[in-house]
Amino acid sequence: MQTLKVAVIGNGSIAIHRHVPEYAANENVELVAFCDLTKELAEDMVAKYGGRAYTNYKELLEKEDVDAVSVCTQNVDHAQVSIAAANAGAHVLCEKPMATSLEEAKEMIQAAKDNNVKLMIGHNQRLMPPHVKAKEILASGKLGNILTYKTTFGHGGADSWSIQGKDTWFLKKNKAFVGAMGDLGVHKIDLMRWLLDDEVSEVSAFVETIHKEADVDDNAVTLMRMKGGAIGTMTASWTYYKGEDNTTTIYGENGVLEIHDNPNVQVVVKLVDGTVERYSVGEVATNDKQVASGVIDAFVKSVVDQEDPAITGEEGMKSLNVVLAALESAETKRFVSVESV
Ligand SMILES: NC(=O)c1ccc[n+]([C@@H]2O[C@H](COP(=O)([O-])OP(=O)(O)OC[C@H]3O[C@@H](n4cnc5c(N)ncnc54)[C@H](O)[C@@H]3O)[C@@H](O)[C@H]2O)c1
Repeated sequence: MQTLKVAVIGNGSIAIHRHVPEYAANENVELVAFCDLTKELAEDMVAKYGGRAYTNYKELLEKEDVDAVSVCTQNVDHAQVSIAAANAGAHVLCEKPMATSLEEAKEMIQAAKDNNVKLMIGHNQRLMPPHVKAKEILASGKLGNILTYKTTFGHGGADSWSIQGKDTWFLKKNKAFVGAMGDLGVHKIDLMRWLLDDEVSEVSAFVETIHKEADVDDNAVTLMRMKGGAIGTMTASWTYYKGEDNTTTIYGENGVLEIHDNPNVQVVVKLVDGTVERYSVGEVATNDKQVASGVIDAFVKSVVDQEDPAITGEEGMKSLNVVLAALESAETKRFVSVESV
């Protein structure tokens, strides 16, 4: 079995809670280096997992012979770090949103191609058991044609999640580029594209800063029309102060599919003929309740088995493209057609 030498760049909350422990638990991985602008965070990782600590990712890529890299930095650095890692010959797992523009996203995809390395994007919603079950049910066709949907992802805000607390980069446009829409909304847009096996053709959106001291949005409500004809809403919020909402409801000709974020039953199918199916398949991960994302194992598997990653750069770019169209809609106060990418 091949052992991959892995470096993790950006050693904040997502690295601490998900990437690094999941790499450490993967028998095909050796964690060899960590990098964070805050030296102590990289050093803390080294103390716990071994390897070497860096504060400059370019130096890490020069000095270390790594097979794969996780990019867990602030959003505006995703593209430059991913491209540098690919050019250094490393497979790349980049967090979402993958980039700040289509140009950057295309450059990342090209860099991976040029260097013959994998590029995977951390859209972990696709791997959560309730969503996997929902996908299976939708693919069975028992709901008939899908007509409408609503999907929501909200919690108290990135300021209560980020390692940087209330001063976090998440709230600053020059570091995050987009707020709740890019943090949570991109997840649910990606989820709907994948669940419905369809693409968004048109969007309209409010993307606003309602309550937080931030120069990015803390709430976004988006109307989406799918190419297949379904219409739906996506809500992303950083102001659900009482608790998280991570739910989706999909209405078809023959009934409704509900995806809940509760511990007992996560997927419920209610058909117009009176049939009710309840599935207990494992919970959706929340900020407070972290469960294994499966992202790291999927990434490592794609490298070891030399197959396409579960969520490719192209998929990440398509979801980013919808976010960019929603931002344009909010700015111009018009419906925006989503061009194919
Ligand atoms: N897939 C998910 O469910 C999920 C969940 C949370 C965060 N994320 C994404 O992960 C990324 C990191 O988020 P987080 O929650 O860990 O944030 P965080 O604020 O907790 O940590 C980010 C860390 O990155 C470091 N950093 C920033 N730029 C850097 C650079 N150029 N080089 C090295 N280190 C750098 C910062 O110093 C900070 O310690 C973001 O893009 C975020 O959107 C994804």
